[in-house]
Amino acid sequence: MDNNARENFGSKIGAVLAAAGSAVGLGNIWRFPIEVGTNGGAAFIIVYVGCVLLLGIPIMMSEFLIGRHTQANTAGAYRMLAPGTPWRWVGRLGVLSGFVILSYYSVVAGWTAEYTVLAIGNSFDGKSAADFPQIFSRFVSNPWLSVAWMLAFMVITHVIVVRGVKSGIEKFSKLMMPALFVILIVLAVCSVTLPGASQGLEFLLKPDFSKITGTMVLRAMGQAFFSLSLGLGCLCTYASYFNRETNIGKTALSVSLIDTMVAIMSGFIIFPAVFNAGYMLDRSDIGPSLLFITMPNVFGQAFGNMPVLAYAVSVLFYFLLMLAALTSTISMHEVVTAYVSEEFDMNRRKAATVVTIACSVVGGLCALSFGPFEGVKIFGMTLFDLFDYVASNIMLPVGGMLIAIFTGWYLDKKVVRDEITNNGSLRARYLPVVVFILKYIAPVAIACILFGQLGLF
Ligand code: PFF
Repeated sequence: MDNNARENFGSKIGAVLAAAGSAVGLGNIWRFPIEVGTNGGAAFIIVYVGCVLLLGIPIMMSEFLIGRHTQANTAGAYRMLAPGTPWRWVGRLGVLSGFVILSYYSVVAGWTAEYTVLAIGNSFDGKSAADFPQIFSRFVSNPWLSVAWMLAFMVITHVIVVRGVKSGIEKFSKLMMPALFVILIVLAVCSVTLPGASQGLEFLLKPDFSKITGTMVLRAMGQAFFSLSLGLGCLCTYASYFNRETNIGKTALSVSLIDTMVAIMSGFIIFPAVFNAGYMLDRSDIGPSLLFITMPNVFGQAFGNMPVLAYAVSVLFYFLLMLAALTSTISMHEVVTAYVSEEFDMNRRKAATVVTIACSVVGGLCALSFGPFEGVKIFGMTLFDLFDYVASNIMLPVGGMLIAIFTGWYLDKKVVRDEITNNGSLRARYLPVVVFILKYIAPVAIACILFGQLGLF
């Protein structure tokens, strides 16, 4: 496909909602509350917000400006900006990261679909706390069911991506993101008005500053990368569909704000409800099972005397999770599809099909690592855990660090200025601060995440 044939997002709000759709996902509703709960409540939130402001927004602006300037997929973008140099590997690493994350992420996305169906079928009704761990482990270890849901999720993602940027991704995001905000608000209001909610809010919001350690700061930075979809060129690819009027600074700020608010609101939904249901959470026992084992029980207990409300809340909750996951899987699929289509000169449908098949095979193996392949360990981890670990703790930070160095040190300053100011028509007085962060602060800080995660200090 040549560049003239490339589509653009039709409106500014469409561009913001598509990028926000990528950012808002399981990372916000699943991973964030777990991280907050286990890492010192509000103390973690403060460090996290610091990471978003200091690192997230400048790196997001970098991805946006590289993408919009080149109007190409992420690998093509570096090839165009730095021809004949090894920088093209940054883009390729991003595509590989997108592929890896999509493969295991769609397994959990499949769980959200299964739980939406269970909720719609009122399957949580009349079950006791002891039943839910069994329901969950029976489901994830059933090879066919979890593979089937992963495939179903991949096919839905595929269909939306094939429809294209404007009538697929943008249209879907414009419809789904407002729905997601409404569901979030309804659920948060239900949750914080429950008796005993204050205990949950205290758990979430009371800062425990003794928890601020090197590891906690590293986790907050890693979470910020994952949650903002940074480091793999996903937002670079989306920005290649921005039009010339899109204000890059304002868009990065809006997307980061939306993403952070959704994450914090998820905490407002989960913790008050969990405490109301009588779970005396110890910070150490909040794990990934929170959403699939604890929450189904919570709905029944919290709204036990109002079964209709319990039913409605559980359906809405899992539907919310599924939507959030879908807008993110679309964005990862798009990174890889744009690459295959443009670099191998394939039409969009064919490229998307190649990506869907390849991701389904790898995703299937990840899904089976909860069942028949449970014993297959690489570096002591199942394939699913290995992918999660390598992608979010190594590939994304490396990608983010290289993007910051590329924009801060290599890229022509005129390109940076022209993109951020829309060729001089915007003032963007913050530009020197952003460049300073990209040159010095971000590379050093991210090197710390990386070496910290790898246990090198
Ligand atoms: N930001 C998504 C989430 O919070 O769930 C995950 C994600 C999407 C990561 C797209 C990376 C990406 F490129």
